Amino acid sequence: MLDDILASALANPQAFLPVAFTTTLVFALYRRWKASRSLRVPFLKFEDGDDSRQRYLQESGKLLKLGYEKAFAMRNYIDELAPQVYLPLKYMDEFKAAHESQLSFPYFSELLFSQNEIGMAKVTEEASHVMRTDLIRNLPTIIAGVKDECSAIFNKMIPLTPDWTPVTPYPIFAFAVARLSARVIAGPELSKNDEWLGICLSFTKKSMEAAHALRASWPAYTRWAARYFSPAVKTVLADRKRATELLTPVLEARRQASRIPVEKRQTRYNDGVQWLMETYDAQNRKITPAVLAEHQLFLAVASIHSSSAITLSILYDLLDEKHQDAKKAILDEIEAVRNEYSNWTRPAVAKLLKLDSFMKESQRLHFMGHARVTRAARVPYTFKDGLHLPKGTMAQVLHSGPQTDPQFYEDPETFDPWRFLRKRETIDPYKFQFASLSNVETTFGAGFHACPARNYAADTLKLVLVHLLTSYDIKYQKESQTRPPDTNHDNATLPDFGTVLLFKGKSSQAP
Ligand code: HEM
Repeated sequence: MLDDILASALANPQAFLPVAFTTTLVFALYRRWKASRSLRVPFLKFEDGDDSRQRYLQESGKLLKLGYEKAFAMRNYIDELAPQVYLPLKYMDEFKAAHESQLSFPYFSELLFSQNEIGMAKVTEEASHVMRTDLIRNLPTIIAGVKDECSAIFNKMIPLTPDWTPVTPYPIFAFAVARLSARVIAGPELSKNDEWLGICLSFTKKSMEAAHALRASWPAYTRWAARYFSPAVKTVLADRKRATELLTPVLEARRQASRIPVEKRQTRYNDGVQWLMETYDAQNRKITPAVLAEHQLFLAVASIHSSSAITLSILYDLLDEKHQDAKKAILDEIEAVRNEYSNWTRPAVAKLLKLDSFMKESQRLHFMGHARVTRAARVPYTFKDGLHLPKGTMAQVLHSGPQTDPQFYEDPETFDPWRFLRKRETIDPYKFQFASLSNVETTFGAGFHACPARNYAADTLKLVLVHLLTSYDIKYQKESQTRPPDTNHDNATLPDFGTVLLFKGKSSQAP
């Protein structure tokens, strides 16, 4: 019978289209109905008449604040058919401990970016694994090279002149972070290749644009075809292809080198390409350039914009007139550490306690997103208290609520630069650090998927800030020396990317 339907559809496609359309619509409505029936949490929406998509993009934060106490659902403009649920803190322990086959971080990313349809690089187990093992093992060597690399990168892009130079810092910070990350992830062959860096820098933005274009113009059940027709999707695929081409000779050369006995090798590679290749070799699997490109692009997406946006956000606070005493204390601390250590090694960076505390307080009040722990239900999932998430639910635990909750932070609305330093001094020196994790400290996520590169990211950010603060005098171009308001996009909050800062080379520059 199926054969007959197929044959008649092929013979007369015009007549078949309305049938296909109706079936698709009915199926979609059934999916939405089924999900909403089994999701028994309040559905929050703007009640003043304007419930537009644009409103969700710019003002989601208002609804998220309203729901801090209880689990709630809200419109999911990513996929109008899949429910979106925000959970309060009390669900965190169960949420972060749920098995990957139940509540999944890679599946959330897949849905968020429509990764299957646009060809975006996915979260890969292997890439996360090498960050969790090889990166951590090699951190001392890697961090020891970051400060010199910072000088090489920034001195070219922001002149050390005695006059004030206007600079829009975000693109420069993103480029600097892309190069620093590429050194670790892609290795020496590509870390200074402008084409490679260009692909890594723009891949996130292009992927987001492709996902938006897809949702705006392609009904859900036609999206599989977008890769053949949508220019935005084709751009993502073209970048993947080019990334694969650029990685091909690198992988080939590494393979040849690996045939030489270790003691006779002239170069010892210590980077993501090598770690991934060796991981595959150890499992008797063969890594192809296309597979390597998937891992590399995923790591580029994970590393570049998160690090550069946070650097900018912290710098904004450091320049704010309210924090000049704290900045002076941080500069004195940097000077003291530099006098004690001849190089910016990991132990030296670990002594930057005031900078660490300031960075963490800055992120507490200017967090990057209202939710930092994100999972999607691969199967229907029920919490111990009976809260049920239907299959396909995109769920997130609220990060923003606890940051200004007096239950966790005394006088929570006040920017207190040494809040976390005091906690380290009085409670536990190994906790309350910028990269620490706890149920309320979720800048870097939680549970198994918590950012495996968080210590690398924290040390690198500090060294970038050390470089900027010791090499330049920096101030806002506008008269008022205050931090510009953050911008909102869906549940993300970002530092303003358009603010112009003035830079001037310091007369006595630090090494
Ligand atoms: C300040 C900068 C960064 C922030 C705020 C950040 C934050 C995060 C967050 C929130 C997650 C998801 C955790 C979860 O859902 O529980 C994550 C995952 C991840 N991050 Fe980062 N990250 C940063 C920098 C980096 C860098 C520099 C790299 C690589 C060099 C990196 C590699 C990863 C990877 C591989 C994952 C996935 C882990 C997994 O699947 O298990 N991140 N990060």
